[in-house]
Amino acid sequence: MLGQETVKVPFLGAVVSVRGSVVDIRFDEHLPPIYSVLRAGGEGRIIIEVLAQLDARHVRGIALTPTQGLARGMAVEDTGGPLKAPVGKEVLSRMFDVFGNVIDREAALSDVQWRSVHRAPPPLARRSTKSEIFETGIKVIDVLMPLERGGKAGLFGGAGVGKTVLLTEMIHNMVGQHEGVSIFCGIGERCREGEELYRDMKAAGVLRNMVMVFGQMNEPPGARFRVGHAALTMAEYFRDDEHRDVLLLVDNIFRFIQAGMEVSGLMGQMPSRLGYQPTMGTELSRLEERIANTDTGAITSIQAVYVPADDFTDPAAVHTFSHLSASIVLSRKRASEGLFPAIDPLQSNSKMATPDIVGARHYGLAQEIRRTLAQYAELKDIIAMLGLEQLSREDRNVVARARRLERFLTQPFFTTKQFTGLEGKLVSLEDALDGCERILRDEFKDYQESALYMIGAIDEAKGKTKVGPPGAPAESDSKTEAKAAPDPAVKSTAKSTPESHPKSGTKPQPKVEHAADTHES
Ligand SMILES: Nc1ncnc2c1ncn2[C@@H]1O[C@H](COP(=O)(O)OP(=O)(O)OP(=O)(O)O)[C@@H](O)[C@H]1O
Ligand SMILES: [Mg+2]
Repeated sequence: MLGQETVKVPFLGAVVSVRGSVVDIRFDEHLPPIYSVLRAGGEGRIIIEVLAQLDARHVRGIALTPTQGLARGMAVEDTGGPLKAPVGKEVLSRMFDVFGNVIDREAALSDVQWRSVHRAPPPLARRSTKSEIFETGIKVIDVLMPLERGGKAGLFGGAGVGKTVLLTEMIHNMVGQHEGVSIFCGIGERCREGEELYRDMKAAGVLRNMVMVFGQMNEPPGARFRVGHAALTMAEYFRDDEHRDVLLLVDNIFRFIQAGMEVSGLMGQMPSRLGYQPTMGTELSRLEERIANTDTGAITSIQAVYVPADDFTDPAAVHTFSHLSASIVLSRKRASEGLFPAIDPLQSNSKMATPDIVGARHYGLAQEIRRTLAQYAELKDIIAMLGLEQLSREDRNVVARARRLERFLTQPFFTTKQFTGLEGKLVSLEDALDGCERILRDEFKDYQESALYMIGAIDEAKGKTKVGPPGAPAESDSKTEAKAAPDPAVKSTAKSTPESHPKSGTKPQPKVEHAADTHES
């Protein structure tokens, strides 16, 4: 069958077979090397990347565009080079697809440099190792899992727990203050989200230091597989040629792994565990290792990571974990309780949380917060079975502190104002630490828990109502909590909502936990 194929023009190849996105092409004169980009169809609109050389005359490639209309025998042109991305100052404030075409309906780029998207990570000797904190203005992150300037942070979570919201909020908080360049890369997520982000950034006036690159879920796997490389190529230009700091935001890196899995399956490779491609580790590390710091500039990256079926032992999640300097884990349970951002502090961590980097006070407080929350988590079973009043007084105090901390660590976001009705809050690390310290010192034990819910700095709680007279003895307080008000969270939210946020009908409400359930049964 192959012998029947005729090549019409000597320096061109001819399509031998098309199976979905996978195309086999015969070249008689020369064989294009791996990663070469081939073009076929009218105006060369079908773009194919060579991924394998089958024998001396045939290559197998994956189409980065839809392959409708491609037929056996059609001519294929070797462009003589790999996939390229535009780099330079001109790309700022623009939106691109994987091929570097502008997709923001503005004028095309005139005079830009194009670079191969396949590049090596910086050599070890050029990497820098200084550790500096990157403040986000989000209390729970800055206090418990501080991000690293030039580090990689992952936002892990199952479907719909708030990854995109948290990432967008971080963009909102950081892009304005960050003097460097921000690059947003959308991989395999909704087109709508990309468009909304573009409009928001334009309205906020920060687009001029931003670039957006999209290969969303409507595009073929080849395009989703390469769009991350295209974005990184632009980021590397700013780091290496302009010596600027770059903030690289990716939503969602799991979709990159997934696209690799589709490509691998289409290429006929045998799948590995859970259907993932056998080359997942290599593919991911090729991309992640390029996100590095050199002594002239740093790429800080924040990546959303979708966790399939909330299973954190999924190979994709496990592989991604190993590349990160901070992992922020979003939990469905907290989201269902209305504790947004739904970060689970006990599962999240950051390598920056050491006394040498954050200082002794911050470290000590963070440890104390974790300890309190962990003790509360352990006590939850006992409370569910026996009730709060069976706990010792010290344990009841731990529970009270932990519940207040949990509520204080929620925060209204600028990006969720439309549906929470609450004005967004940016909180400095100092204010966040101060609030946590005062809660741990029981300064707010006479306040209703809800007074601490969805506020910014701790002083905002002062304006809200108290449960009992200030300075009431500890025992009477715990009685109040245990008996008189069996349902503190709900009751107090209901009471305080109308006064504090008259228009917030859709305000997320913290759900009652075990402590309250028991009293009802
Ligand atoms: N901080 C928050 N405050 C209030 N509501 C929130 C917050 N974060 C998330 N939500 C709610 O959760 C919904 C889903 O959030 P989001 O779209 O960020 O999830 P996701 O993890 O990106 O989901 P997917 O995996 O489907 O992309 C939001 O539409 C919003 O209603
Ligand atoms: Mg999302």
